[in-house]
Amino acid sequence: MNKIALLYWAPGGNVEKAANEIYDQFESDQVFMAHLAGFDMQMIDEFDKFIFGCATIGAEVWQDARANNMWNEFFLHAENDSFAGKQFAMFGLGDQVLYPDNFVDSLGLLKNEIEKRGGKLVGQWPAEGYTFIGSEGSAQGKFFGLALDEDQQADMTPKRIAKWVAQVKKEFGL
Ligand SMILES: Cc1cc2nc3c(=O)[nH]c(=O)nc-3n(C[C@H](O)[C@H](O)[C@H](O)COP(=O)(O)O)c2cc1C
Repeated sequence: MNKIALLYWAPGGNVEKAANEIYDQFESDQVFMAHLAGFDMQMIDEFDKFIFGCATIGAEVWQDARANNMWNEFFLHAENDSFAGKQFAMFGLGDQVLYPDNFVDSLGLLKNEIEKRGGKLVGQWPAEGYTFIGSEGSAQGKFFGLALDEDQQADMTPKRIAKWVAQVKKEFGL
C-alpha cells in the first residue's frame, strides 16, 4: 500500500496546474491522481498516503456554498476515524495581495477535517517569502501545507514544489 493518492479540486485552473507539477516530481507508478469528482470514496482504504490540493475562494464561500465545493462533499462522506493510521500532505492556492487577511485559509479548514478523522499531517511549510496579514492556514510561522500563489509569485512555484515534494517524500518514508 505504498501508492499515494493525489486528490485536488477544482479542475481546470491553478490547482490542477500545481497538481500536475507535483505529480511530475514522482515516479508515475508512485501516485494515483484524480480531481475529486472523479474519485470514488470507497477507494480511500486503498491508500495510506494522501496529497490534497485546494484553492481558497472566499473565506465565507467555503461554508456557504457547500453544494459547489467538492471538498465539503468529500469530507461529508468521510467518516470519523476513517483517516486513522494515514498520512496527509496538502497544497493550497491563494492570492496574498488581493486576500491578505485570508491567505490560503483553506489549508486550515482541510487540516481540521483531516485531524478530526484521525489523519496525521506532514509537509508543513515556512511562511517566509510570503507577505500577508492573516491566514487560517498557518500558525507560528508555518503553513500547514505548501502555500502557492500563482497570481503574485508564479515564478516561485516550480522551486517551491520541488523542495516541498522532496520534504514530503522524506516524511512519507519514501
Ligand atoms: C472569488 C474569489 C475569491 C478568492 N478568495 C481568496 C481568499 O479568500 N484567500 C486567498 O488566499 N485567495 C483567494 N482567491 C484567489 C484564488 O485562491 C487563487 O486565484 C487560486 O490560484 C485559484 O485557483 P484555481 O484557478 O484552481 O481556481 C480568490 C479568488 C477568487 C476568484
